[in-house]
Amino acid sequence: MLKARSGENLENTEKILNVLKEKVHRYCTPLRLNHIKGVSKLSRELARQYLVDIQETDIAAWAHDMFRDVSSEKLLSMARDYGINISDIEEKKPILLHGKLAAIYLKKHFDVDDEIFEAVYWHITGYPGLSILGKILMVADMAEEGRSFESARIIRTIAKKDLEEAFKNVIRLKVKWAVESGLFIPVELAMTWNYLLGGVSLGGNKGSQKE
Ligand SMILES: [Fe+2]
Ligand SMILES: [Fe+2]
Repeated sequence: MLKARSGENLENTEKILNVLKEKVHRYCTPLRLNHIKGVSKLSRELARQYLVDIQETDIAAWAHDMFRDVSSEKLLSMARDYGINISDIEEKKPILLHGKLAAIYLKKHFDVDDEIFEAVYWHITGYPGLSILGKILMVADMAEEGRSFESARIIRTIAKKDLEEAFKNVIRLKVKWAVESGLFIPVELAMTWNYLLGGVSLGGNKGSQKE
């Protein structure tokens, strides 16, 4: 098995990336492919700046949306095959499963370490206490150069000075969009926002869950 672990050699990472790129070309639309390239580019820049492993960042960037253009029916059947506990919101909006499925695919096929796994798994909603790699992926996902709207440009600029602030802006924007579009707010997104505001434990009840 090809493994993706910190300190693995570059040749191994190249082989994994080749497999991922082949999958992305097979499963994704040309627009998505451009987006993924943009995420890879910006996340590499941020990884260099914030001293995160570039190889891990590349794997996370290329994998994060590999199942983004797969049909809802297929996502649900993959999630059942992978044994994911599908939430009510995911049942209604199966597209929300694409990050979890990509993360589990990476774990199964390349035994990726927890940082890559969690970054990809939570890239849609965030999660309290997400790693720097996870924050970089979410910021790059929102603000890669193909995103031309004003908020993306602002987040791109902030990210080069303050990753935490850029990440907070990404979560704020996702909450805002969900409310303004009349969409569900995934629980983990709300938890992440509350966590970023400070003083709130994971479930919102102090002492009910550990941080
Ligand atoms: Fe995604
Ligand atoms: Fe994406």
